[in-house]
Amino acid sequence: MIHMKPLLAPSILSANFAHLEEDVKAAEKGGADYFHLDIMDAHFVPNISFGPWVAKTMKQITDIPLDAHLMITKPREYIPRFLDAGVELLYPHIEGDYDIYRTVQMIKDHGGKAGVTLNPATPISSVIPLLDILDRIMLMSVCPGFGGQKFIPAVMTKITELRKLLDENKPSVRIAIDGGVNIDNISEIRSAGADFFIAGSAVFKSDNIEETVRKFRDILNKT
Ligand code: DX5
Ligand code: ZN
Repeated sequence: MIHMKPLLAPSILSANFAHLEEDVKAAEKGGADYFHLDIMDAHFVPNISFGPWVAKTMKQITDIPLDAHLMITKPREYIPRFLDAGVELLYPHIEGDYDIYRTVQMIKDHGGKAGVTLNPATPISSVIPLLDILDRIMLMSVCPGFGGQKFIPAVMTKITELRKLLDENKPSVRIAIDGGVNIDNISEIRSAGADFFIAGSAVFKSDNIEETVRKFRDILNKT
């Protein structure tokens, strides 16, 4: 098993957009490794968030790399726009996309890093045909659409299963976990085999964003 430094990506979905820059700078000071952008279109999930223009705004605020979680029904139509806005890695969803290989290939062809997202009920075996072109796999530990939900415990065994599959076939692929990640459960998620952690409300709804990110990083640094 390759030991890769665990990375933390606060999701700005839970930031206060009245002072986005302040929130982002605090997370940056605390040691955030990435910022996570949750893109929702009101069709793929029952919520609306923001588009590529927020990625452009983030590029003005920070030099920390961005990834974007595409909870949208037509990801291929928006891939160039997010990459042109400066997003490093995109995670389209595997569910309902019968041409997911083409979608992921399109990200690579446009110079991006390629991820894919699996909902809690989607089996790990569904990523096998995509392994050769993937850089990261994101497992949802809540049903997508909203911040602030509770981690679904059954996802823990999926992380272990995916870690084993990757160790045997493509150890360089990172496992990202999205949904309900907090200070109390991150060690267990790490032990199961994840190495990329997305946290929205636990970071941006906390009393001290910088301190909270530092706490997350301290826990991860000990693993
Ligand atoms: C949910 C999003 C998550 C969300 C995480 O659809 O994909 O990235 O913002 O938020 P928390 O950490 O609050 O569960
Ligand atoms: Zn997300």
